[in-house]
Parts: sequence; structure tokens; C-alpha cells
Amino acid sequence: MSKEGQQMNTDMDNETIAKAYARWAPVYDLVFGAVFERGRAAAIAAAERIGGRVLEVGVGTGISLPDYARTTRVYGVDISEPMLRKARERVTELRLTNVEGLSVMDAADLTFPDASFDVIVAQYVITTVPDPEAALDEFARVLKPGGEIVLMSRVGAEDGLRRTLEHWFSPVACRLGWRSEFSWQRYARWAAATPGMSLVERRAMPPFGHFCLIRFAKAAAEDAATDIEPAAAVA
Ligand SMILES: C[S@@+](CC[C@H](N)C(=O)[O-])C[C@H]1O[C@@H](n2cnc3c(N)ncnc32)[C@H](O)[C@@H]1O
Repeated sequence: MSKEGQQMNTDMDNETIAKAYARWAPVYDLVFGAVFERGRAAAIAAAERIGGRVLEVGVGTGISLPDYARTTRVYGVDISEPMLRKARERVTELRLTNVEGLSVMDAADLTFPDASFDVIVAQYVITTVPDPEAALDEFARVLKPGGEIVLMSRVGAEDGLRRTLEHWFSPVACRLGWRSEFSWQRYARWAAATPGMSLVERRAMPPFGHFCLIRFAKAAAEDAATDIEPAAAVA
């Protein structure tokens, strides 16, 4: 677990989250379908600008899968088998032949080799995983140089009434399967501490601008090579 995770994430664990989403699975699309539609469309548009092979982490019921171009290869993973069962039904029903696979997997412990994907997409997921920084590390690892991490995610208020409400709602939110408090600083600190990764976009999204499209780019191989200290490069 990351240092940040050890300090800040004693509130949630994978078992609790998996149980929460097993309860959500039958009604998830009804409750969270329309409300997050615009956010999903923006994340997929960003992913498709890169194209190639996409890993969608926390794919859930596969609600976003029909929105990818059929030329985009997508692999979906999620911690919740009941959510994935819905995704499998959707893939079969809609004959989404571009979906390579759907597997139960922990965002913070991906089983793919390094540099396997052109884009990593995680929509409404980062604030639900017990150790978000460890998950982001895994995203960066399995991402190819020149690729992007595309997040659609909650960003908590820094101060004011919304900050107070988010703090007050926090224990209920954890039981429901997400964090209500999640500061922008956590994303910023992660990017600053992760070699080769840089923030390329932060765009407020509905509902109420409480969510953001966040894009991190991984330096292309040639950029990474020019970052090497001259002495190390000739060693
Ligand atoms: C709020 S739902 C988002 C589902 C979908 N991405 C969407 O756009 O509606 C969060 C999803 O993240 C999954 N999840 C939570 N923690 C996870 C983890 N550690 N690894 C993989 N998936 C996780 C949950 O099971 C759930 O399906």
C-alpha cells in the first residue's frame, strides 16, 4: 500500500467495496446512468483521441462500453463480480466484439504486463478504491509511453459549506461505496511524485461541477530518454 494510502485510507477496504457494489449491481444503471452520461461521453472522447488499446478500470455494469468506437479495443476490469456479470450480458446482447475481455481485478494490483495499453480510463472509480495512489501507480505502469490516463472523478471542495457537508456525509458515503471527501491535492501530489507522468487537463464537469475530467500523460519513450542525466546515459 502507498504511504499516502497507509495514512489516509483506513476507511475503506476491497471487501467492503465489493459488497457495496454487489448491492448496487441490480439498480446501478437506473440510479447512475443518466446522471453521469455527459461525464462518460467526455472521458470516452478523450480516450478515443488517443485510440488503440484501452483498459477501463472499474468498468462496472459496462454502461460505457457501447459508447466506444467498434475500432477501439477495450479490456474492462472491476472488483465486483455482480457488476461485471451485467457488463458481460451487455457485451453479449449488443455484440460488442471490440471488448477483448472482462475480468475481476483490483485496480491497485493489475495483472497486466508493463506498457500494455494506450489509454487507461477510470470513470467514477478513483474515490471508491481503498488506495487511490497505488491504483494510479498501477495505471502508470501498464500504460505505454506516449499514452494517457483519463479519469472522470469527484474532486472534493477545499473549503466552505460544501466542504462541511462532504465531511459530514463521509461515513455514509463510505458505506455506499465511495468517498465524499477527496482533495485535488491528492491527484496533484501523485503526479508530482511520479516520474514521467504529467497533468495535461483538469476540466469541471456536471453535475454541479463537482466532478472533473482529469488527464495525465506518460512521457513518450524518446522524451524519457532525453530526461536521463548525461552521465547515466553514457554509463
Ligand atoms: C461508481 S462505480 C463506476 C462504474 C462505471 N465506471 C460508471 O461509469 O458508472 C465504481 C466502480 O468501481 C469498482 N471498484 C471499486 N474499487 C475497485 C478496485 N479496487 N478495483 C477495481 N474496481 C473497483 C466498483 O466495483 C464499481 O463497479
